[in-house]
Amino acid sequence: KELYLNGAFVAPEQAMISVMDRGFLFGDGVYEVIPAYAGRPLRELEHLERLQNSLQGIGLAPPLSPSQWSPIFRRLLSETPTADQALYLQITRGVAPSRDHRFPNAPVPTVLAMAKPMKQRDPAVAERGVEAVTRDDIRWLRCDIKATALLAAVLLRQSAEEAGAEEAILVRNGLALEGSTSNLFIVRQGRLITPPKGPLLLAGITRDLVLELAAVAKIPCEERDITAEELRTADEVWISSSTREVIPVTRLDGVPIGSGRPGPSWQRIDRCYQDFKA
Ligand code: PDD
Repeated sequence: KELYLNGAFVAPEQAMISVMDRGFLFGDGVYEVIPAYAGRPLRELEHLERLQNSLQGIGLAPPLSPSQWSPIFRRLLSETPTADQALYLQITRGVAPSRDHRFPNAPVPTVLAMAKPMKQRDPAVAERGVEAVTRDDIRWLRCDIKATALLAAVLLRQSAEEAGAEEAILVRNGLALEGSTSNLFIVRQGRLITPPKGPLLLAGITRDLVLELAAVAKIPCEERDITAEELRTADEVWISSSTREVIPVTRLDGVPIGSGRPGPSWQRIDRCYQDFKA
């Protein structure tokens, strides 16, 4: 199985980067994860547009245009064309002669892309939903940049894992913003609510797709702040991401949400999502 590194397709064992790479030394880079179903990337252009925004956010010029990425994706996906896979893209500010926080004068970015199999959803998720915990959002103030510096997310996700939960839902100043690796939706009185885009959360591609699907399904939607209290007392809570799609959260901090079972609005949206990706 090959991956793409700096213009060449190589076996993973042959793919080497320098210890002086700023991605390694500083987490000075950005990334994307693009789901691909049976060889077809979902919302490819939207993901590449977000990648451009992330690059702009860290002051790095895009090394490849969307039309240059496409053939790379096709080649990476072609080894197992019928499988569902996730494309991972990472661009760092490259190798500098010494460890210096300041940008190098003429950075040569390190560009990586690889595909990995995406597992099918466990049927238990649709039957019973998953458990989540709430955690204080200990991340920085530019969560709109999909940065490879993920230490806070790593610690939060691990803390959820150790609590026996699938996700940590992050609360800052009394507001529930998103999960450690996902966006957040609640349903109250038949209305779908998700926090507005801004610097404190990632503008999820799945999030946008869910809002589009909900509009088509005539489910009323609101983009507004969600308090931690509204989260606890919601009829339904969902999380969304490219690799997990839309998942119902049925227990929060050990307490059932709504009926404690995946709700009717989730079932509708999940059907729409499954049809859309097919
Ligand atoms: N994470 N919010 C955060 C903090 C995320 O890390 C992610 C995705 C999302 C959902 O975005 P999207 O729908 O575009 O995948 C929201 C990816 C999957 C990851 O880090 O692996």
